[in-house]
Amino acid sequence: MSHIKLATLDGVATIEIARPEKKNALTVAMYQAMADALRAAVADPAVRAVLITGQPGVFTSGNDIDDFMARPSAIGGSEAKASPVFQFMRALLECDKPVVAAVTGAAIGIGTTMLLHCDFVFVADDARLAMPFVSLGLVPEYASSLLVPQLMGHRRAAEKLLLGDPFTPEQAVECGIANAVLPAAEVASHARRVAERFNALPPSAVREAKRLMRAPQREQVLRVIAEEGALFTARLRSPEAMEAFQAFFQKRAPDFSKFS
Ligand code: COA
Repeated sequence: MSHIKLATLDGVATIEIARPEKKNALTVAMYQAMADALRAAVADPAVRAVLITGQPGVFTSGNDIDDFMARPSAIGGSEAKASPVFQFMRALLECDKPVVAAVTGAAIGIGTTMLLHCDFVFVADDARLAMPFVSLGLVPEYASSLLVPQLMGHRRAAEKLLLGDPFTPEQAVECGIANAVLPAAEVASHARRVAERFNALPPSAVREAKRLMRAPQREQVLRVIAEEGALFTARLRSPEAMEAFQAFFQKRAPDFSKFS
């Protein structure tokens, strides 16, 4: 069964993350499905905007930690550029149509960093965002080491990227990651209404405007993604990351006291 549900209706291509039994953790196959869906949306003239949603109570708990342990080379490795994770990142970066995210519940790891690359982000009042890469023995990804300090300054970025502190939907709006907070029951319909507004706008002007808005930082973002990706991939096999992953599945706090 596919854990990514796709539908195109009234000019909006919806990508719904649907693996609630694992809190919408993203597997390699799910990244590939999302990359393919984004590219299909770009190619389909009937699509004016893309909507990314999760399930009530969870957007995504981030990368599947089982995959981190079992298939580190599928996440990155020497074939990193061809890996489904990087294909997804690249496809979202290259999507020239507006991308709207509707975030309910947990948005962890790439659940938060992908929002940095969406054009509109609506968060539910139950949303909890977090980028606990360092807590997992890893490093920030998807250009978050560049874009998060840029958005909110080094000090507030350090809380989120070094300490891994979760933050509220109100804080997400205040620091510029999200547009607005809505009641959880309304966030998906509000996001869809915003996406549907592009049916009434001139499509090629929208695409050109989006390209211009992204162009000044495009090369830098790609460079940082590659630099982060190499470190991230190497760290997936590190003893610190192994301890963090095992602790997660053993439902205990990790113990980093033996590392220097
Ligand atoms: N990878 C793999 N499995 C995951 C997962 C992930 N990222 N997130 C949740 N799951 C699994 C749990 O192992 C559990 O499986 P089980 O029922 O077989 O034991 C199931 O999903 C439910 O998760 P649980 O932790 O019991 O739910 P919760 O409501 O108590 O907490 C979260 C929800 C999202 C806060 C918590 O699951 C979490 O912190 N997940 C990991 C987030 C993370 O570090 N992601 C990586 C970022 S780089």
